[in-house]
Amino acid sequence: MNSEPPRLLATRQFPPEIEARLRREYRATLNDTDRVYSPEELVAAAREHDAVMCCPTERFSREVLEQVAGSIGIVATFSVGFEHIDVPAARDVGVVVTNTPDVLTDATADTAMLCILAAARRGAEGDRFVRSGRWERWHTMLMLGVHVTGKRLGILGMGRIGQALARRARGFDMPVHYHNRRRLPPDQERGATFHADPADLLAVSDILSINCPSSPETVRLLDSERIAMLPEGAIVVNTARGNIVDDEALIAALRSGRLAAAGLDVFDNEPNLHPGYLDLENVFMLPHLGSATRETRMAMGSTCLDNLAAFFAGRPCPQALT
Ligand code: DGY
Repeated sequence: MNSEPPRLLATRQFPPEIEARLRREYRATLNDTDRVYSPEELVAAAREHDAVMCCPTERFSREVLEQVAGSIGIVATFSVGFEHIDVPAARDVGVVVTNTPDVLTDATADTAMLCILAAARRGAEGDRFVRSGRWERWHTMLMLGVHVTGKRLGILGMGRIGQALARRARGFDMPVHYHNRRRLPPDQERGATFHADPADLLAVSDILSINCPSSPETVRLLDSERIAMLPEGAIVVNTARGNIVDDEALIAALRSGRLAAAGLDVFDNEPNLHPGYLDLENVFMLPHLGSATRETRMAMGSTCLDNLAAFFAGRPCPQALT
């Protein structure tokens, strides 16, 4: 029996405490420079290992999985989202895939609330204004924003993060509406109004928060036709995935004033976002910080380690997707 620890490829940098454990528990190849592997490099490197710990920056397409399946037995992604991994293909070739749900729910819901408040109350614009030295005096009409109290919050995707956002929004006295693939039971719905048709949700969303996963069904879901269904002066917030929004359509609606503001933590093709956002004062933007707290990133790392340990012990992985 081979008593050597398994060989593990860490495709990106991880918190130092997590990397220290990777070094202790595996024959780990770490990524000291944090460069992103090309698909060819990923295949070549993965073939030399038994397991991969990755991020959404690495794509495990069917083609990649077919080439690495002979070597690696598990891909543990340091994320809840797994649109970068072809899960059915992984199942076909016998590679286990795990993710990190639950531990990032609160941090991501906090970020959604931050985006709502900053977009509604012109947070980034106000900060820029103060720094620029243009602020001369308090004024009754300076940078008036949108009052969130009493505004209807529409949550598109009422999974763990959507539900955590709903809990926060209730503290702001915002009536909650939602669309989800299936209606939640009353103890999870907690008085929120379900809309079976996304169009009905849009019509009542003074503030729309996108919290659904990216999938073939949700890519470009918020296009010009659906933006037109939102109330005049609505606010759009996205902390899920950038490709759920049609950037051209959102930018046009923000530029024309049809929408009051947007709060965006995620972008299509990030970090190379659509340049049309850059000169819009009414967009609050973050560099994909949804789960970026020290505690959360540590917990995500521990979840990956738990999944890897279970796999190599021959036990079911706690967060297996395959
Ligand atoms: C996730 O966990 O999916 C976050 O968005 C980080 O990519």
